[in-house]
Amino acid sequence: MSVIAEKPRNDSAVRVIPTGKPVGATIEGVDLASLSDAQFEAIFDAWMKHNVLRFRGQELTKEQLQAFSARFGELDRAPINIKGEPWIEGYPNIAVMSNIIQDGQPMGSLGYGEAVWHTDMSYIEVTPSAALLYSLEVTREGGETGFISMYDAYETLPEDLKQAIQGKEIKHDASHNSAGELRKGFKAVDDPREAPGALHPIVVRHPVTQRKALYLGRRPRGYIVGLSLEESEALLDRLWAHATDESKSWWQKWNVGDLLMWDNRCVMHKRTAFDPKERRFMLRTQIKGSKPQA
Ligand code: OGA
Ligand code: MN
Repeated sequence: MSVIAEKPRNDSAVRVIPTGKPVGATIEGVDLASLSDAQFEAIFDAWMKHNVLRFRGQELTKEQLQAFSARFGELDRAPINIKGEPWIEGYPNIAVMSNIIQDGQPMGSLGYGEAVWHTDMSYIEVTPSAALLYSLEVTREGGETGFISMYDAYETLPEDLKQAIQGKEIKHDASHNSAGELRKGFKAVDDPREAPGALHPIVVRHPVTQRKALYLGRRPRGYIVGLSLEESEALLDRLWAHATDESKSWWQKWNVGDLLMWDNRCVMHKRTAFDPKERRFMLRTQIKGSKPQA
């Protein structure tokens, strides 16, 4: 009997194994480098249902990662990084998430510290619908990525909070990333009302599923338009306490070759800190979305 694991074929059945939390499922039985249309459709349906998908043991070139990503929509440029140019020359649509320093220069974004709960790029008008993160080097400990459902957060919102946010919008700070670093070209401001960034409804409707989701972005420098700063802070604190109930979160502990994709319209994610002596290296693509709508 051969001990070498055979890659799934493109006529293999797609198996969906839910995490048991409000978000997440592991998908088995697929090789993302050679997917059939029928397998893609099964993956897409599972994604709409579970919002975060994990595929283990994938071996993908940058081109194959981009090709799989592009099945979900037009590839979006990587977010602005502290370097001001693509992490990998010739690949403006691939971001690198890494703590590795080479020749005194970081090889990617987000470092080794904690990245707070967030939605990707909610600070711009037309926000990405999805991100795909593919691991090439992983930590033994820490550097885990957590997810939480914003459908569930909306659906379980106490009635008085639903009333309090009715018709309201949040201003989403563009100046800092989720690791708290100042983005290139921005100056630091402390008053959330003065921070640059897009306005979006607090409750959004998912363009595919039509389900409503809470849309909070990130907590630092968030502001609820039209309220006094004190009222905005108090209401945001209550919303965030409700939305980040970690008993409902699902956590990915990374192996090399894992590909994780999330629906940026209805989940938030965060990453735990890890020992800077460890090496973590991930490639990331994102898909163009649309302006979030109530
Ligand atoms: C991201 C992100 C978290 C991680 O890629 O948008 O937040 O675990 N990454 O690297
Ligand atoms: Mn992110």
